[in-house]
Amino acid sequence: MTERKKIIVGNWKMYKTPAEAQQFLTSFAHLFNQNKNQINDNMIFGLAVPAINLELLKKNQISPKMLIAAQDINQHLEGAYTGDLSANMVKAVGANAVIIGHSERREFHHETDADINGKIKTALQANLKPIMCIGETLKERKNNTWKAVLSKQIKAGLAKIAKQDLVKIVIAYEPIWAIGTGLSASADQAQEACAYVRKQVATLANNEVAEQILIQYGGSVKPENIEEILTKTDIDGALVGSASLTAESFIKLLI
Ligand code: PGA
Repeated sequence: MTERKKIIVGNWKMYKTPAEAQQFLTSFAHLFNQNKNQINDNMIFGLAVPAINLELLKKNQISPKMLIAAQDINQHLEGAYTGDLSANMVKAVGANAVIIGHSERREFHHETDADINGKIKTALQANLKPIMCIGETLKERKNNTWKAVLSKQIKAGLAKIAKQDLVKIVIAYEPIWAIGTGLSASADQAQEACAYVRKQVATLANNEVAEQILIQYGGSVKPENIEEILTKTDIDGALVGSASLTAESFIKLLI
C-alpha cells in the first residue's frame, strides 16, 4: 500500500480584499522560500480564497502542486443564478480545486446533500478537485447521533460517483462545534471520526478507494495542535480557517 499524501488547505472564508490578499501572498512567498527545506515534498497545500482573489492567487502560485481553491460553485454549467459562479468561471481565473458543502453554506445558504452531490459531479466534470465538507452539530455529538449524520452526508453527497472519481475527492471532516470556536476536537476524537468516515467510504465503494481517499480534519486547527492531529492514522491533513489568515501562521502549519 502506498502512503497517502498529506493535504493542508487554508480557508479564508469572506476575508481579504485583493490588496490584503497580495500582502499575505508576498509575505508567504518570502517565508515559503526561507523554509523550503522543511516543507515535505509529499504534501499538497493550498488556499481556498474568495473568488475575487483567485486570479491573484494563481499569479502568485508558489509551486505547481499548490491548490488554488474556490469556496463554492453552482452545480449548473451556466444559467440564471444571480450571484453564483460556475465551475468554468472559477477555472478560467486559475482555480484547480473547490470546497463544496462547507457547513457555513449548508447553514446560511441551506445547501442540501443533493445540492452538494450535484456540485461535486460538476466539479469533477470540470476537473476541479472537490473538497467535500461534512460534520455534525454539537447537539448531534452530544446525543451520540454523529455517526448516522456523517454516514448520511457521505452516502448522499457521494451518490452515483464512479469509483475512479471518488479517489479524486478530498473529504473534510469538520465538526460544526469545533469551527471558529477555538474548541478543537481532540486528536483522538478526530481520528475516531475520520476512521469512521473511511469505513463509510469502503461501504459505499470498496476498501481500495477507502485506502486511497484523502480525509482532512477541520475545526480550530492551529500551529499548536496540527502536529498531533497529523500523527493520526486516518487523518491525512487539515482544512484550516482562522489560522490560515496570516502568512506567519499558515507557514507554521506546513513545516
Ligand atoms: P477554523 O475553520 O479553523 O477557523 O475553525 C475551519 C473551517 O471552517 O474550515
